[in-house]
Amino acid sequence: MNTTHFDQAWFNLPNLPTPVKALFVGYLLAIGLGLCMAGLQIMQTHGKADGKAGLSLNDIIYSYYGNRSGSKLESKLNGSMKTMSTPESRMQIIQWVRNGSSRTEWDQQLNKIFQQECTHCHGPESAMGDFSRFDNVKRLAETNEGASIQALIRSSHIHLFGISFIFFFLGFIFSFAVGVPGWLKISAILTPFCFLIADILSWWLTKWSPGFAWLTLIGGIGYSIVAGIMWIICMYQMLILSRNKKLYGNAWQADLEP
Ligand code: HEC
Repeated sequence: MNTTHFDQAWFNLPNLPTPVKALFVGYLLAIGLGLCMAGLQIMQTHGKADGKAGLSLNDIIYSYYGNRSGSKLESKLNGSMKTMSTPESRMQIIQWVRNGSSRTEWDQQLNKIFQQECTHCHGPESAMGDFSRFDNVKRLAETNEGASIQALIRSSHIHLFGISFIFFFLGFIFSFAVGVPGWLKISAILTPFCFLIADILSWWLTKWSPGFAWLTLIGGIGYSIVAGIMWIICMYQMLILSRNKKLYGNAWQADLEP
């Protein structure tokens, strides 16, 4: 008599024991919320990089390749820092940047403008640099080369480690799904990792040439969609499909069969 087959008939998303379901559902809720927050964060930072709301190819180019005909100071003053100063001061700063950001003018006028409008956020305690000091402002007044190599290395490894963790557990939970053909299950589990690697690679490629910015969009949208679909299927099978009390059998065993 084959008892193993019967014993593991609960080994699938709809029939999992409730404590395991509680663990999986709690995890999925938290990463679902995390994904939404990540989307908002991208809109907040990169979305405004080119000064217009909403994420576009230009934002990605600004963030990674930079605007090699202008400075970071100027692009911020046209972007997320636009509302931080009066239009007159803003024009004065931009003029100063375009005229080569000289020390003399800084001492005469600009220092005062920065003290009035910027240093309460960009002061001595700010991690972004103290804007009451000429050197710090001068650095940002130079041509914008986009993300630095250090910044790219830092965010690349954080994203690769962090997001892989999310996809690992999501894929693991999804491997218990029932009624999904084996080849489709394997593709769904693998593709987010491929899109993730393409996404990270695209940052470096875009830093090198702005023509690769579309790859960043495809990577990000790609893994969001695939992860979203897996998320919905997992939740549906654990919370709704389970209600018919049917035994679905061992999900991994089913995937062994061709
Ligand atoms: C209310 C607080 C606040 C004020 C006032 C403010 N900033 Fe900022 N600034 C920020 C924050 C927060 C960031 C980081 C987020 C971002 O880049 O949008 C930032 C980032 C920047 C950056 C990018 C720095 C970097 O190294 O990436 C520049 C340049 C900048 N601000 C310029 C200015 C200038 C010029 C003024 C004055 C006209 C100003 N800011 C006033 C809060 C402020």
